[in-house]
Amino acid sequence: MTEASAPAKLILCGEHAVVYGRPAIALPLGGIRARVTIDLAPAGSGITFDAPDMDRRWSLAAAPDEPLSALAVRVCRELGVAPPDVRVTISSPIPIAGGMGSGAAVATALVRALAAHLGYELAPETVSALVYESERRLHGTPSGIDNTVIAFERPIWFVRQPPTDSDRRPGTENEAPRRTDTQHAIRRMPQATIEPIAIATPLTLLIGDTGVRSATRLPVGAVRQRWQADPARYEALFDQIGVLVWRARAALAQGEVVQLGALLDQNHALLQQIGVSSPELDRLVEAARAAGALGAKLSGAGWGGVMVALVAPQTREHVRATLAAAGATQVLETTIDPS
Ligand code: PMV
Repeated sequence: MTEASAPAKLILCGEHAVVYGRPAIALPLGGIRARVTIDLAPAGSGITFDAPDMDRRWSLAAAPDEPLSALAVRVCRELGVAPPDVRVTISSPIPIAGGMGSGAAVATALVRALAAHLGYELAPETVSALVYESERRLHGTPSGIDNTVIAFERPIWFVRQPPTDSDRRPGTENEAPRRTDTQHAIRRMPQATIEPIAIATPLTLLIGDTGVRSATRLPVGAVRQRWQADPARYEALFDQIGVLVWRARAALAQGEVVQLGALLDQNHALLQQIGVSSPELDRLVEAARAAGALGAKLSGAGWGGVMVALVAPQTREHVRATLAAAGATQVLETTIDPS
C-alpha cells in the first residue's frame, strides 16, 4: 500500500483580485489533510477509485473524463508508464466547495500517491502544474494559487499574469502521450511570481464554516461578467485589494497583528463590494468582530464556504463560541508559525 496526503489551504487576503493579476497571500493548513491510498488490484482491472466520504466509486475505463481519472492518466503519461492495476482510495475531511481547496488537495494527494506507487517523487512545481491543469477543467480560469500553496506547503505570496484567451481554452484529453507532458502542463500554468513570505509572530486563526456550499466557478464567473460590464470600477476595486495585500505582507513581516486584523476587515468590505459575500458570511464575520477578533473576512471564492478570523489567544474561546452561536456549522482553529 502507498499513501500520500496534501493539506487544505486558506487564502488570507487577495482572492478574486488575484485572478486579475493582483497579489494574494495563501497559507497551507497542515493539520487538515486529504489522503489517498493506493493498493494493488488484480491484473487487468485498471484503476478504480473509491471515495467513501463522497459515496462515490468509479473506474478509469468507465469514467475517463472524470477529473481525477484524467489526472491519473496525465500522471502516468508524465512518468511514461501505462495506467497500473490499482485501487485508489480517497478520503478528505476538507469541506467540498467550501473555500479551503478541497479539490486541489485531493488532486495533489492523488498525484503524490500515484507517483510514489510508481517509484517516483515529483518536484512541487511538477505536482502543482499537473493539479493546475485539473483545476482548470473545473474552474475555467483559476489563478493557480490553490495548487501552488498546496503543492509547496508553505505560506506564499502569489501574483499571476492576468488571464489570456489561451488560459480560457479548455484542454483536450486526447493529446498524444508524450514524455514531456509535465513541461507541457507547466507551460499551461500562467506565469506567476511565487515567493515565501516572512511571518514574524504566530497567528491564531479561526475558520468558521457557513455550511453553504458554492462551486468556485460561480462567483468567479459572476465577477468576470461584472468586470467585463464595468472594467473601470472592478479594476479600481482590485487595485485597492492589491494595495492592502502589500500592506498585509508588511504587517506579517513585522508581527503587527492589530494592523493585519484591520486589513482583513478592509478586504472583506471590498469583497462585499465585488459582490461575493453572502448574508451567512457577513453574519459570521460580524459575530467574530463583535466577540473581539482582531479582524475577519470571507476566504476563498465566497457566496458560501468559510470565513477566517484573526484572534488573540485570550479571545479565541469567546470568538469560537460566538461563531458557533451565530450559525457556523464548524469552527476550525489553526496556528501559523513564524517563518
Ligand atoms: O474557493 P476556492 O478555494 O476555490 O478559492 C478561489 C480563489 C479565487 O481567487 C476566488 C479564484 C482563484 O482561482 O484564485
